[in-house]
Amino acid sequence: MFGEGPADARLMLVGEQPGDQEDIAGRPFVGPAGHILDRALADAGIDRATIYVTNAVKHFKFEPRGKRRIHRKPDGGEIAACRFWLEQERALVRPAVTVLLGASAAQAVLGRTVTISRVRGSAIALHAGVAFVTVHPSYLLRLPDQASREREYAHFVRDLRQAAATVG
Ligand code: URA
Repeated sequence: MFGEGPADARLMLVGEQPGDQEDIAGRPFVGPAGHILDRALADAGIDRATIYVTNAVKHFKFEPRGKRRIHRKPDGGEIAACRFWLEQERALVRPAVTVLLGASAAQAVLGRTVTISRVRGSAIALHAGVAFVTVHPSYLLRLPDQASREREYAHFVRDLRQAAATVG
């Protein structure tokens, strides 16, 4: 499943892989993670219609459990196998700023594993443009208490705002 957005978008978001709802809809970030991402984009003053949203891995990896399909994290081999497609998208769009949502996206675009807390907040130079690494929106959904959800959500919005400000 490919990303979506204008071919001349200046800002690109890269997620991990489509989830259950994305796989059915054929569109990135339309399920629960997409809802919180949409809210954060709005709070950061970013119009989703102006940005390109895609994923590092192009297929939904899951484990069947009854009628449900439970997400499974892609491994390094799957990320590497899909890198060609992501690179085609990146070469066509050539965004000024790329936001890497979580470790899989960071691994796909930077070509190395990173500790999110160490690299968060700093612009990383890419072949073309710069990248910022932040958490994956699903992380926000997994936090156990309201206080940490609010704190982490605010940090995520700040990261998006910083990326948008870097675009100019
Ligand atoms: N999580 C992702 O990383 N990408 C999607 O498109 C949906 C959920």
